[in-house]
Order: sequence, then C-alpha cells, then structure tokens
Amino acid sequence: NNHSSDSRGALIVLEGLDRCGKTSQSSRLVSYLEGLGHAVESWRFPDRTTNVGQMISSYLANKSHLDDHTVHLLFSANRWEKRSLMESKLKSGTTLIIDRYSYSGVAFSSAKGLDMEWCKAPEVGLLAPDLVLYLEISPEKAAERGGYGEERYEQLEFQEKVSQSYKTLSESSWKIIDATLPIEDVEKQLRENVLDCLTVCQKGKPLSELWL
Ligand code: TMP
Repeated sequence: NNHSSDSRGALIVLEGLDRCGKTSQSSRLVSYLEGLGHAVESWRFPDRTTNVGQMISSYLANKSHLDDHTVHLLFSANRWEKRSLMESKLKSGTTLIIDRYSYSGVAFSSAKGLDMEWCKAPEVGLLAPDLVLYLEISPEKAAERGGYGEERYEQLEFQEKVSQSYKTLSESSWKIIDATLPIEDVEKQLRENVLDCLTVCQKGKPLSELWL
C-alpha cells in the first residue's frame, strides 16, 4: 500500500435510525480496509464499557430513570472521555470507523423536545468527522426489519421524530446512502466514499473540531 506512515487516519462516522444496518456495515467496512492493509479500528457510541457508558446502558434498558438533559450530557461525556485516545489514534495513522457520534446525540435528544442548539453545545470541541455516512431508511421500513428490541428509543413514533431531527441536522457534506438497497450495494457505496475520504486525509487535510 501507498499510505505513508506519517499521514493521519480518517475519522469516519456512520449515522442513521435504529435498524438502518450501520452496525453490520461498519464491521464489513473495517474488514475491507484491513484487507487493503490500512490500520483501522471499529468504535461505537455509546461506549458501554466505561462507568459513564454503564449509566447510559442501564438507562437505555429502562433499568434507571434520568432527566433528559442529564442523559444527554452523559452521552456527550462518553464521547469526551474518549477524545484524547481518538486524537492519538488518528495522529498515529489509525482510521476510526465510528458507529454513531454527536449527530446521534443531538438527533435523539432533540427528538425528545430539547432545544437543538442546547444539545449541540456540549459537543463543541470534540473532533469533527472527516466523513459522515448517513444510512437513510424510513422509520416504517426500519421497524419491519425484525422488529425493535426492548431498548428505550426503539419505538416507531419516536424514530419518526429522530428522523426529522436528522433532516434538520444534516449538512451538504454528508453522504446519504439508501439503506434499503441490497447489502452489497450499500457496502459498495460506503467503500467508494471511504476510499475517497482516506485519499483526502492522506493528502494532509487537517483534523478539525465540532461544531462545523
Ligand atoms: P446503539 O443501539 O447504537 O448502541 O445506541 C443506543 C441508543 O442510544 C440508540 O437508540 C441511539 C441512542 N443514542 C443517543 O440517544 N445519544 C447518543 O449520543 C448516542 C451515541 C446514541
């Protein structure tokens, strides 16, 4: 491979409604990039392995109750606690494929009725993704996919609101992928976009911070 050792890794984020296929696509993407010889890791938020992540996990499982603002700040804190590791990984040349990021934070909390600007504020200063891949699916189609699980947000009515929030939040730089296409077609589009992004990062695109 031709990526030089001094070039940084790319920060690539997958977003979308629950059941859009992000999780399986992100693992396919990581295997693909590994096969090409790239240093790459798969991350996800919430990261349930930390103390903060365990509070979030218990909340999502309806085992604890938290005020909406409080849980919003926990999700954000969960990203902040990984920020320095994220930066050092990227600087040492590792590409990160992240399943959900600040956009989930804002989309889900604002779908509960919290003010969008208030929701964005604690995300300011986190690393900005080099690429956001949005797997687009209607809430109805997502719900048909084997049904939702037991978690707090996995309800059609709420996912409709999340979908609206994502629309408000989306930026022209996002790559919108039709998540209802066959898995291989989605995968192909993701690969193409990611390879383009890696090229841009290798050419020296600087890391930047939210909120852009
Ligand atoms: P997961 O299913 O991808 O593990 O995410 C768990 C739920 O948490 C999912 O419904 C999306 C939601 N979420 C937020 O509400 N705020 C956030 O900041 C993140 C990362 C996820």
